[in-house]
Amino acid sequence: MFKTIAIASDHGGYEYKETIKTFLAENFSDITIIDCGPSDTQSVDYPDFAQAASGKIDAGEADGMILICGTGIGISIAANRYESVRAALCTDVTMARLTRQHNNANGLALGQRIIGIETALDIVRTFVTTEFEGGRHQRRIDKINVKPN
Ligand code: RB5
Repeated sequence: MFKTIAIASDHGGYEYKETIKTFLAENFSDITIIDCGPSDTQSVDYPDFAQAASGKIDAGEADGMILICGTGIGISIAANRYESVRAALCTDVTMARLTRQHNNANGLALGQRIIGIETALDIVRTFVTTEFEGGRHQRRIDKINVKPN
């Protein structure tokens, strides 16, 4: 289980960010939440907030991260520029389960314009409660950051 989750969005994901924060506080009170913004629905740039949350992972201040933008695409692309981040864009609970079991994903990306809030909360629940399986999957993860020649 994650100890500390950094959460961030852009304006396109702000509403889900707020709902997911409440959901986590009510259902997973042992998890500390770091809100990396934004603080309202004013138009912002998703890389700024992907970087704010990813910086927490990179610094060891958070072991998990939830990112929401309109599609989940831009914010996950920006987050995955950090070698310490494995952020998975999930649209259903099967993806959330498998990315924890196989990829040991430390980031979950969601699209507020793509999935409904009930699906988003089911995905969040699965993401935070599913453990990494290790074994052959660790060997594969170890190869992810190998630089191409
Ligand atoms: C913002 O309009 C939108 O582009 C953003 O939320 C996201 O969908 C980008 O991938």
